[in-house]
Amino acid sequence: MTTDARAEKGEASPIPDPTVIPPVWSRITNLTIDRGEGSWLITTDGERYLDYSSGIGVTSTGHAHPRVVAAIQAQAAKLLHGQQNIVYHEPGLRLYERLSHVMPGEGWGAFLSNSGAEAVEASVKLARIATGRPVILGFRYGFHGRTAQTMALTTAKDVYRGHFEPLPGSVYHTAYPYCYRASGGAHSPEACTCDWEEQLDLTFHQLIYPEHVAAVIVEPVVGEGGYIVPPPGFLPRLREITRQYGILLIADEVQTGFGRTGEMFAMQHWQVEPDIVVVAKGIASGLPLSGILAQRTLLQKWPPGTHGGTYGGNVVSCAAANATLDVIESEGLVSNARERGDQFLTGLRRTATKYQSIGDVRGLGLMLALELIKPGQGDGRVPNPELTKGVQAEALARKLIVLTAGTYVNVLRIIPPLITTSEEVELALGILDESLAAAGA
Ligand SMILES: Cc1ncc(COP(=O)(O)O)c(C=O)c1O
Repeated sequence: MTTDARAEKGEASPIPDPTVIPPVWSRITNLTIDRGEGSWLITTDGERYLDYSSGIGVTSTGHAHPRVVAAIQAQAAKLLHGQQNIVYHEPGLRLYERLSHVMPGEGWGAFLSNSGAEAVEASVKLARIATGRPVILGFRYGFHGRTAQTMALTTAKDVYRGHFEPLPGSVYHTAYPYCYRASGGAHSPEACTCDWEEQLDLTFHQLIYPEHVAAVIVEPVVGEGGYIVPPPGFLPRLREITRQYGILLIADEVQTGFGRTGEMFAMQHWQVEPDIVVVAKGIASGLPLSGILAQRTLLQKWPPGTHGGTYGGNVVSCAAANATLDVIESEGLVSNARERGDQFLTGLRRTATKYQSIGDVRGLGLMLALELIKPGQGDGRVPNPELTKGVQAEALARKLIVLTAGTYVNVLRIIPPLITTSEEVELALGILDESLAAAGA
């Protein structure tokens, strides 16, 4: 019977079995969700889960924020698709204009697309066309997406690229300063002894001429690769080196952008101005939208027709993004991310004193992580992915959704929405404490 025929008889059609979804979508929970409200997801059985995954860092304004929903509903009733090559539309014009003011300083412009990977692709195409140089340099532990070009840039984990060789060429990787896993031993980022600069210099002497490099792409705080906050000197020094060789600096702020780390963009923590900022996720509260920000002088070097896409800058997504920016501003979400982040990190540090399996606690704003190890084994930093999965499962059993990250899948990754409250943070800290104990940390 068709859905329409059932509806006429007043019958709801049964929800199909989840096996209709192919296994390539690896699975974090088996929850079937009816709706979301703020920090909470509510299942079809009416169970409430504290969603500290934010749909992988997307729902910064919380689930179904009334102002965002109202903007989407109003726009959807007027126009669903106004293709960017064919017409202008008001939500798009407003968003392009607003995005030219989200970075400190003058002269910025934007380009809009759909997904994070698509925006990274755009940044690479712009960098190559603007510099006339071929090479793109990324970092070990980086994650930039799942398309061919972005897989080539990604080194966070073998599963993201290992089966898909050959990948696009003229892409190289150099060392990221991961202070906890430094070859010389774990150390505080404030007293960093990582040899990333020597490794970059070697890369320039062994693999590529710096004068052939169009861009260096970097996540200011590594996401998928393990929620790694770099030492204070790293990004300022990287900016100096890239300027020295005329290399563009691309900040992949897909996960860190729009307030997530307690600044509008994470690069602002170090007062570093990149040439291109890649944005997605938190920009539109869940509707597909992404883009790049760059100086208008740079964007002018991109000839008409050399890039684009059918859906880029979709009108409903633009309306959602405008409302999202309103909510971020009017509800003070950037400072809330900073305050709730500090509260969470302090709580996690307190919790860590109780468990030998917590090797490292780190985070910036509301990007928070526990790195779990096997105490007493090897050099004291042997990754413990089984325990990480165990803690995640115990948290889920207590109705808290958190994710994992890291090359060895031994990092518990916590991504609350930016609207989260002090009470919710305390609730999550309590659940995590219980979950660590239950999983045998
Ligand atoms: C830093 C970073 N760049 C790019 C991407 C790719 O974004 P998308 O999944 O929207 O293609 C992600 C997604 O997690 C990301 O975290």
